[in-house]
Amino acid sequence: MLSLLVPGGSGQLGRALAGLASPEAEVRAPGSAELDLTETSAVVAAVSDLAERARAAGRRPVVINAAAYTAVDAAETDEWRAFAVNADGPRVLAAACSSRRVPLVHVSTDYVFSGEHDRPYEPEDALRPRSAYGRTKAAGEDAVLGSGARSWIVRTSWVYGAGGSNFVHTIERLAAERATLSVVDDQRGSPTWAADLAAGLLELASRIAEGTGPGRRVLHCAGAGETTWYGFARAIFEEIGADPDRIRPCTTDEFPRPAPRPAYSVLSNASWRDAGLTPLRPWRDALHAYLSSTR
Ligand SMILES: NC(=O)c1ccc[n+]([C@@H]2O[C@H](COP(=O)([O-])OP(=O)(O)OC[C@H]3O[C@@H](n4cnc5c(N)ncnc54)[C@H](OP(=O)(O)O)[C@@H]3O)[C@@H](O)[C@H]2O)c1
Repeated sequence: MLSLLVPGGSGQLGRALAGLASPEAEVRAPGSAELDLTETSAVVAAVSDLAERARAAGRRPVVINAAAYTAVDAAETDEWRAFAVNADGPRVLAAACSSRRVPLVHVSTDYVFSGEHDRPYEPEDALRPRSAYGRTKAAGEDAVLGSGARSWIVRTSWVYGAGGSNFVHTIERLAAERATLSVVDDQRGSPTWAADLAAGLLELASRIAEGTGPGRRVLHCAGAGETTWYGFARAIFEEIGADPDRIRPCTTDEFPRPAPRPAYSVLSNASWRDAGLTPLRPWRDALHAYLSSTR
């Protein structure tokens, strides 16, 4: 049976992980107030505590790191802070996991890619982040992979779920506030419901605990299929019973943001499937399930 430590437990993914973990699993899912990844001694103590409690109870300890500085635009002017959380924190966490022989699953992002592809990104494709956030997440991946810990990187994309500020909630709000809205139609990706991702990560953690973790250490896990933010927004309108024709497609140039985004960041799920893990359902079905669960 698993003993899990989930830094970032107050975020979208962290909440989903804590909520979906099997009732027999022991789960500690602290938010940043309870476990700050930039406080080295607290991180080391949390991993040591996990290892000791798990071994005393005959459980298998695993850390799933769901903590991150996720404010993509703010990171452009706050890169040192984003780096502290997204790169230095995971480095310390991975070193603690290595010394206590606790396996680590670290969550990363499609924004480590530049977006010039015209086919889904595979884990081995070259990283060329375009934003400060992407650079700090790429540095976090390097730190984890180079730590000596038994570790896996799972990249995901366009995450939404309960308890977060995310695209679905923004579009729901704008549907109530505005007669029409413009949404960018020249960035493609795969929306991912945090609950589906959490179920996938828990399946991976169980495999790791059983000693049958995948040989490949970098994996992609995202909702199946792809769309643009415009297509995603239309689907949200359809789900909430609003007229999707109130949404107008626009270009990224018409809607400038501080952080550049990849034009194409669809993640191939082949690595996940090849590892014998259950692929996530189509993004449109997941959106329907999520919005049905909130009503
Ligand atoms: N959201 C997306 O669209 C998206 C896309 C691709 C990949 N990802 C990746 O998926 C993972 C989960 O993202 P999410 O959407 O669940 O993010 P989120 O909702 O923004 O949650 C982030 C979590 O990180 C915690 N955190 C922030 N600073 C911290 C620190 N210094 N120490 C410890 N914890 C800290 C937050 O805690 P408090 O709230 O308590 O401060 C919160 O629990 C991240 O690795 C992210 O990079 C997300």
